[in-house]
Amino acid sequence: GKTSTFVNAANSDYARASQREAIQAALIHVHRQLGQTYTPIINGDRVNPREYSESLNPSQPEEIVGRVGLATIEDAEHAIRAAKAAQAQWQQTSVAERATLLRRAADLLEAQRHELVAWMCYEVGKVVAEGDAEVSEAVDFCRYYADEMERLSSGYDRNFPGETNHYHYQGRGLAVVISPWNFPLAIPTGMTAAALVTGNCTILKPADPAAVVAAKLAEILMAAGFPPGVFQFLPGRGSVIGPYLTQHPDVHLIAFTGSQEVGCRIIAEAAVLQRGQSHIKRVIAEMGGKNAIIIDESADLDQAVAGVVQSAFGYSGQKCSACSRVIVLESIYKPFVERLVAATQSLNIGPAHLPSTRVGPVVTAAARDRIQEYIAKGQQEAELLLSVPVPEMGYFVSPTIFTNVPPTATIAQEEIFGPVLAVLRAETFTQALAIANATAYALTGGLYSRTPSHIQQAKAQFAVGNLYINRGITGAIVDRQPFGGFKLSGIGSKAGGRDYLLQFLEPRVITENV
Ligand code: NAD
Ligand code: ALA
Repeated sequence: GKTSTFVNAANSDYARASQREAIQAALIHVHRQLGQTYTPIINGDRVNPREYSESLNPSQPEEIVGRVGLATIEDAEHAIRAAKAAQAQWQQTSVAERATLLRRAADLLEAQRHELVAWMCYEVGKVVAEGDAEVSEAVDFCRYYADEMERLSSGYDRNFPGETNHYHYQGRGLAVVISPWNFPLAIPTGMTAAALVTGNCTILKPADPAAVVAAKLAEILMAAGFPPGVFQFLPGRGSVIGPYLTQHPDVHLIAFTGSQEVGCRIIAEAAVLQRGQSHIKRVIAEMGGKNAIIIDESADLDQAVAGVVQSAFGYSGQKCSACSRVIVLESIYKPFVERLVAATQSLNIGPAHLPSTRVGPVVTAAARDRIQEYIAKGQQEAELLLSVPVPEMGYFVSPTIFTNVPPTATIAQEEIFGPVLAVLRAETFTQALAIANATAYALTGGLYSRTPSHIQQAKAQFAVGNLYINRGITGAIVDRQPFGGFKLSGIGSKAGGRDYLLQFLEPRVITENV
């Protein structure tokens, strides 16, 4: 196929003193701004809600990061009316203009890079290096979807004597974006950018634990110049305004990333025709994973141990792409597990803002408690091999390794979304692949091997949307590794890839006899 010329944003280089100083200054600067109030933005106006939710710093929960106004159902209705009123104009706005606004947003994200990293650090406990990569991803989404929309905008012609045919795309209408908290900047940016540049008026409903970072994104999009009604920001309780938005007859498109449970509910509810609805809703749903890495007897163990540790415990395992199962061939099981334990024990665990921290807290007290329940369940189902001590203050969960985990155990089947790794044994490579494939999810997967026949077999049979060979399984980069899964992991085409925008568009053909 054609090679891409897209240039990804560069991450900060913290080996350079100037960049270390910049992030330290931003952490101090942003810390002084904690505790402020944020509001929904409807038709260009900030509305003053009756109720607020408090977003806490998971590393130090006595710190309130911000108070975010909760939109009501009436607010949601106002936003939908404003979007409807703005839709015709936005759809007619040229692609060049829409792409320009998106590129301006990318420049603003880049200009605020260090502050945004600091906000993510305080609000969701993301360590600095991972937050920095997330800003790059958000910038990439804006620039990539701007380029993509320009590529698609020409459509194509097929002309005959006396007949012209023109194939082209238009926006679908009103889009609702519902985002998760775990990539609080990149994921809402990606879905919102895609919806806007394709000509859809867009309402962003962020996840509650990450609503301050989403408010920062909303400020950037407003500053970039998206008109009132075209982009609106609607923080609120997912269980209240979520269903109101997704069931609304005037909504055309729902772009959702989050849990499988909520995703499936949205797909079902969006399929019901409401009174006055004269279209079928398009739902894009990116959901969870139960991702595995296979280690065979020819694996380079230095690489494999480092890759598994980063994939399983990076951001405390709170990535849809995280490794939660490692399937190890019998012949290499003992040395691999010994080294895995040693590497995990040496992880530096602490508050997310400290430069030395590799693994921070989990996002909320509720998340911590839910993960602890899985750990308790794991102790009944398997052998607890390692539980690394963690700070007492803050929502910390010990990086935990279970061994001799049966493939059907709850901890080998359900998405835990925390720093819990199940180690499973396999006699043969074929058996390892069968175990890897024996869950309901198909998001990411990995293989460490130097055996060409195993690599071939994995390419053909490992049922995942993103397969990584001899590297970690998180950290997909826009355009390089378009990202997304199938089975219960999703019904969207890949974010950051060439098919993505098509989901936000309606194709049309105009035939004219001349
Ligand atoms: P979640 O499903 O609990 O919430 C996601 C969003 O849905 C939030 O904004 C929430 O407020 C909203 N919501 C909740 N109930 C709703 C309802 N009834 N109607 C409409 N909206 C509703 O997920 P989360 O805890 O925020 O995120 C973690 C999950 O996201 C994990 O399962 C993870 O695997 C998944 N995830 C997937 C990807 C991917 O690309 N496949 C990426 C990141 C996260
Ligand atoms: N796109 C994110 C990753 O690859 C989820 O880790």
